[in-house]
Amino acid sequence: MSTQSSFADVPRVTTQTVQEMRDAGVPIAMLTAYDYTSARILDSAGVDVLLVGDSASNVMAGHETTLPITVDQMIYHTQSVVRAVDRSLVVTDLPFGSYQGNTKEALYTAIRMMKEAGSHAVKMEGGAGVVQAIKRIVDSGIPVMGHLGLTPQSIHKFGTYKVRATDEEEANRLREDAALLQEAGCFSIVLEKVPAALAAEVTEDLEIPTIGIGAGIHCSGQVLVTHDMLGLTTDFNPRFVRRYAHLAETITDAVAGYLNDVRSQRFPDESESY
Ligand code: KIV
Repeated sequence: MSTQSSFADVPRVTTQTVQEMRDAGVPIAMLTAYDYTSARILDSAGVDVLLVGDSASNVMAGHETTLPITVDQMIYHTQSVVRAVDRSLVVTDLPFGSYQGNTKEALYTAIRMMKEAGSHAVKMEGGAGVVQAIKRIVDSGIPVMGHLGLTPQSIHKFGTYKVRATDEEEANRLREDAALLQEAGCFSIVLEKVPAALAAEVTEDLEIPTIGIGAGIHCSGQVLVTHDMLGLTTDFNPRFVRRYAHLAETITDAVAGYLNDVRSQRFPDESESY
């Protein structure tokens, strides 16, 4: 059995599994999930990690940014995903405003994600500024995934969704933050929209896995927003999104067929009636 298939056969992916995959050089595949039906398909397809991302604020609720989504809404999405999953590790984003205030509030939010939502781990954006909160959460037994680079909860500080850490000062800060997050006990770190060479260097320096999105091929794993890679979103076209399907077109065609059949009274037929 190859190393690759031995991980595919793991009945339940844990934080230890993703570390073992990184150590064995087996890429970790992560996608976002927000609802039961999609999560069931993604889990059955063999996705290692399902991220209940605060990108739900964009793709599920139609907000312009990830900022408005609430803890209660993230709990609702996570509960739906957790009910669907047999194998994948479920990681939930702590939403904006629920962990930056103080470490006690951060711990309280993380505990709600584990206890009420049933998540297996939480994800938090930021470096030095959230390290104390991460330590407190990890110390209480909750696994934390970090997130550096383009952190969408800080979009109003950045003012743009451009690639981060292209200058030496910000690249150095990212290197330092990555080391701090590892020391604080994070089990992995998402690197979003940073130069591939920097992500490769950070991945090489760390002992925990990195998961890249717009961060090149040398991360320990990759993540995309499911709605983007399936082509359900059509107006978001950054270079890092590869579209594996064009579901917006498929759905539009299917709905056109339905409308046509209803309007021409070809649906339902006898076999579809009682
Ligand atoms: O919220 C999200 O979907 C994310 C991924 C893009 C990493 O944080």
